[in-house]
Amino acid sequence: MITKDLIFNKIAYFCAKIELNNMVFLTRRARFNAAHKLWVEEWSAEKNKEIFDKCANENFHGHNYTLFVTVKGDPDPVTGMLINAKHLSKIIKEEVTEKLDHKNLNLDIDFIPKGMQTTCENLAILIWQIIEPKLQQCQLHCVKLQETENIYTEYFG
Ligand code: NI
Repeated sequence: MITKDLIFNKIAYFCAKIELNNMVFLTRRARFNAAHKLWVEEWSAEKNKEIFDKCANENFHGHNYTLFVTVKGDPDPVTGMLINAKHLSKIIKEEVTEKLDHKNLNLDIDFIPKGMQTTCENLAILIWQIIEPKLQQCQLHCVKLQETENIYTEYFG
């Protein structure tokens, strides 16, 4: 049965498809290593361990993070580039990875609010907020943050 909702869903799907078809995407990968701890003060040590597992280690612990920043838009007619990859690398390095690398994410970083859980989810949102205003000629599409081989988060703004 064709319902109004079905028609709206189809239209939304095709609009999204048209938008994606007209764009090209570029992803830059960067790496950093950092320590963190996930902990809720109001909970017992047992409950923290149960919920956060290894990430609740009392004296912090480290991860080898991999960050993927994907931008989208139309290539420049002269250079053929969406953004100069060197420029994108510089933004990621100066604004994010150099600030986080070999630091304690709970204690050392100005832009991470004290008391915020330093999960991949929250970090991806913060990284988006830092990078997004720095881009002029293209749009930020996705910030993907990988914490372990098997876990990553993606944030689309
Ligand atoms: Ni952890």
